[in-house]
Amino acid sequence: MDAPNQPLYYADYLALDRLLGCQELESARHGTPAHDEMLFIIVHQAYELWFKQILWELDAVLRLFGGETVDEMDVARSVAHLERIVAIQRVLLQHIDILETMTPLDFLEFRNYLIPASGFQSVQFRLIENRMGLRPQDRVRFSEAPYTSRLKPGDRARLEASEKEPSLFDRIERWLERTPFLHFGDFDFWQAYREAVGRMLERDRRHLLNNPALTPEEREKQLRGLEATATGFEALFDPEKHRELVARGVRRLSHRALLAALLIHLYRHKPILHLPFRLLSLLVDIDENFTTWRYRHALMAQRMIGTRIGTGGSSGHDYLRQAAERNKVFTDLVNLSTYFIPRSALPELPPEVERTMGFQYAGTSG
Ligand code: HEM
Repeated sequence: MDAPNQPLYYADYLALDRLLGCQELESARHGTPAHDEMLFIIVHQAYELWFKQILWELDAVLRLFGGETVDEMDVARSVAHLERIVAIQRVLLQHIDILETMTPLDFLEFRNYLIPASGFQSVQFRLIENRMGLRPQDRVRFSEAPYTSRLKPGDRARLEASEKEPSLFDRIERWLERTPFLHFGDFDFWQAYREAVGRMLERDRRHLLNNPALTPEEREKQLRGLEATATGFEALFDPEKHRELVARGVRRLSHRALLAALLIHLYRHKPILHLPFRLLSLLVDIDENFTTWRYRHALMAQRMIGTRIGTGGSSGHDYLRQAAERNKVFTDLVNLSTYFIPRSALPELPPEVERTMGFQYAGTSG
């Protein structure tokens, strides 16, 4: 039972004594206090607090997507959690502007005291990556060592355990695989889509052949590009070819999940697919925002330390740039546009399918 007449006190509620008592300057401990180290510590701590909130939101989405089915309300709740993550990411990007008010010379005043510590050891950042679905084999390595190699044993064990838990990628893939509408009774949507793609490619080919503005070389190049597009589409319609792409690491989503994601994008204006479309778009936003942050962080590192190696021992800017290029999760969703065709060329859906896809409004109109 709560003690009576004990009003909650702001500083106690927020544990401010502890929170504001943990900014200890390494430079002061060495007898050479550096003014800007306070900013350096506070910005890192603010990041770690926001990382905690991002994990909180990600875990909520993972729970909502953990069951055998995910109902409409849970998709809506997940969209709200993911929107919050996107809003936090915008703030995280701005933290870099604040940190860059510290000049490289000011950083040099205390940088050496930090070795061998580095953001590379941020366990929460790694947990976010793992919860999102970044696999060990996707990661850029430095010194041929796993990303956990510079951590204390307890932290390493926690991260290795998190690699084995289902990630957001896994949960979204399973959910997509269960999406209805991939087959509609007698109507074979994918056969109709394949024919629509064939018509589009044929039209594109005619345009190229009849375009007087192209030189023969340009036309040849464009036709080769069109051929490559046609081959790309083949993998969409052939599960075996898709499996080969997955084995080669070119694709990651299962064939069924990829088709479902494509369908959701093509018919996103249908009421029943609108929320799923929001959800998939937010996953792409989150992946993209992390990539933007990684590039900004790499540029900041270059500005601060030039071509020196990092305090954690990596090649510094070079390593960070490669990680920005490679460490992505929902690339298949980003690349979906490869398979889009103009809306005007989409196959017409049978009336009963149209009705089912509009069912949300029917349910609220009475
Ligand atoms: C003066 C500012 C900063 C510089 C010069 C810097 C530099 C670096 C460097 C060179 C690395 C590569 C590992 C190494 O060799 O140490 C790294 C990694 C990292 N840093 Fe920073 N950093 C700065 C600020 C920050 C801030 C404010 C955060 C926020 C938490 C952060 C988070 C990270 C993370 C998460 C990694 C691992 C990235 C990965 O492996 O993909 N850094 N940083």
